[in-house]
Formats: sequence, C-alpha cells, structure tokens
Amino acid sequence: MAWDEGMIGNQENKIAVVTGSNTGIGFHMARALASKGAEVLLACRSIEKAEDARRRILEDFPGSLLRISELDLADLSSIQDFSQRFSEENSRLDILINNAGVMIPPKSRTKDGFELQFGTNHLGHFALTGRLLPILEETQGSRIVTVSSIAHNPGIIDFDDLHGERKRYNKWAFYSQSKIANLTFSLELSRRLEAVGSGVSAIASHPGYSATDLQRHSLFWRFLNLFLAMPARRGAEATLYAATESDALEHPYWGPTGFIEMRGRTGRARINPKALDEETARRLWEVSEGLTGVRYLS
Ligand SMILES: NC(=O)c1ccc[n+]([C@@H]2O[C@H](COP(=O)([O-])OP(=O)(O)OC[C@H]3O[C@@H](n4cnc5c(N)ncnc54)[C@H](OP(=O)(O)O)[C@@H]3O)[C@@H](O)[C@H]2O)c1
Repeated sequence: MAWDEGMIGNQENKIAVVTGSNTGIGFHMARALASKGAEVLLACRSIEKAEDARRRILEDFPGSLLRISELDLADLSSIQDFSQRFSEENSRLDILINNAGVMIPPKSRTKDGFELQFGTNHLGHFALTGRLLPILEETQGSRIVTVSSIAHNPGIIDFDDLHGERKRYNKWAFYSQSKIANLTFSLELSRRLEAVGSGVSAIASHPGYSATDLQRHSLFWRFLNLFLAMPARRGAEATLYAATESDALEHPYWGPTGFIEMRGRTGRARINPKALDEETARRLWEVSEGLTGVRYLS
C-alpha cells in the first residue's frame, strides 16, 4: 500500500517510548511521532547521543515534545530503574516501541551474563515490556510494537545453548535467534493479552534492509548499504504504521513488501511458521521469565 510517515494521524496527548532512538530507524520513528504531536521519550543507553538526537529533531520540528531517559537493555537493573522512573513520572503510555538492537558484534555478554544479541534484542525488551505493562494497561488503546527482521527466517531458538556456551559462536546464528525470538515473543504476547481480555495490542514489524548503524560491525554490509538498502527513514515506516494505524491491528507483522521484503511499500509481512509454533513460544516465555526475573501474563 502507498503509505508513508506523512499519513500518520494526529498523535497529540499520546506518550511514546522508543528504545534505541538516538540513531537508525528508531531516530526516524521518534522524529515522525514527535512531528505529529506525540510526547516522545528517547530511551537510549547514551544520554549524550540522545541529546544530539533531540537537538536534530528540534531543528526540524521546533516545539516537539521530547524527553530523554537512560536505558541500557543489556543491563536488567537499568531496565528496572528506567521503568520505575517512567511509571513514577507518567500516568499513561500509549506506544512502546521495542526497537533497539545489536547485530553481529564480537562475542560478548550483557551485564547479567547473557549472550549479547539474545540478551539485548530479546531478553531486554521482554523485561522492559513486563515492567511497563501496568501503565500500558492503564492507557486505553495502547500498543506494543516489537521490531524483528527478515533475519528471523533462518533463526532457531536453541534452548540447549541460548548463550553460546557449548557450540562454536556463530554471530549470525545468534542474531537470527534474537530476531525470531522478537517475533515469537510478540505473537505470544498478543495471544496472552487477548486471553486476559486486555485492551493492549502487540504487533511486530521489520524494516527490510535499511542503511543504519546496525551494520557497524561489518565492512561488507556497510559497503552493500550504498547499493541495496533503503534510507533509514523509509525503514521506520512499517513500525510507524504498526504503532499508529487502526488497520494495523488486523495483522500481527508488518514490513516492506518488495523484493524478498528487503525494501518497498509497507504491507503484511510474511511470518516464518517456526515463529507461529505455540509450544516454542510458551517455552521461550518461561525461559525469559526465569532469566530476567520479570513475570507477567503467566
Ligand atoms: N537496519 C536494518 O536493515 C535492519 C533490518 C532488520 C531489523 N533491524 C532491526 O531494527 C532495529 C533498529 O536497528 P537499526 O537498523 O536502526 O540500527 P542502529 O542504527 O544501530 O540503531 C540501534 C539502536 O539500538 C541501540 N542499542 C544497542 N544496544 C543497546 C542497549 N544495550 N541498550 C539500549 N539501546 C541499545 C543503539 O544505541 P547506540 O547508538 O548507543 O549503539 C541504537 O540507538 C534493531 O532491532 C534491528 O535488529 C534493522
């Protein structure tokens, strides 16, 4: 469908949290939502980078309502502090966008000892969502949008070696694992919200292939960005659609619809059947609760 950020309706009186919004597609999500009147909280691990992002948005849209709060998704105590601060300072949360992510970094661990990609991209957002769920529940029509990837397709959740302790570390396999976990989580979250009659909606999205800082760990992919990738601003569209359009509630996963979903207009994205497996989803939920200590909807 021919949809772009200019078509987003009025977002005044809404509060949105966008994780990892100092750069990449997250920056463009924050910018677009702020341009339509939403109050946007830039939830970033670097206050300095977030300040710079806020300055750049204000240059384009003076008077935008932008706040900054420190959030390191690779640190469960930072997630707890962020959520507590947010809940004390706000009485509503309309849009939570679980966007931040890392791709193929050198093998490393989060502060709590999890493999970095699974820990940041999935477990961090799992914990954040659970901690913010009470305030989302208090907000009529609120939405949780979780950013996955076409890289979810080869993804396998290896429950016997979630953190790469047994087999040789394959950074791509761990990225794909984190991205199928994002999608599996979003689908399971939606089922669980529905089961308890919640008014909160959970939707997933992906940006196709967009030129951002995500490719920072690969010279090869940074080179390919020049020829194959969409601009980051276009990459933000499917997530913005999922976060703001009423029609987005009719499908659980949105993304570009062009060549192998790498680019193109926003539409219904293809879900690998592995992500629809409810037994895997239930197990992922239980494991995520156990690892993060954040229990909800169970
Ligand atoms: N670009 C693509 O082609 C593509 C394709 C499929 C899916 N995605 C997904 O899109 C999302 C956004 O990626 P992007 O392409 O915009 O990449 P990006 O430009 O690298 O932005 C990623 C954002 O996540 C933040 N982040 C990383 N680790 C964090 C942590 N521990 N705590 C808090 N924030 C953290 C980064 O902060 P710093 O700036 O401080 O590092 C940055 O703000 C990711 O989930 C990614 O998997 C992207």
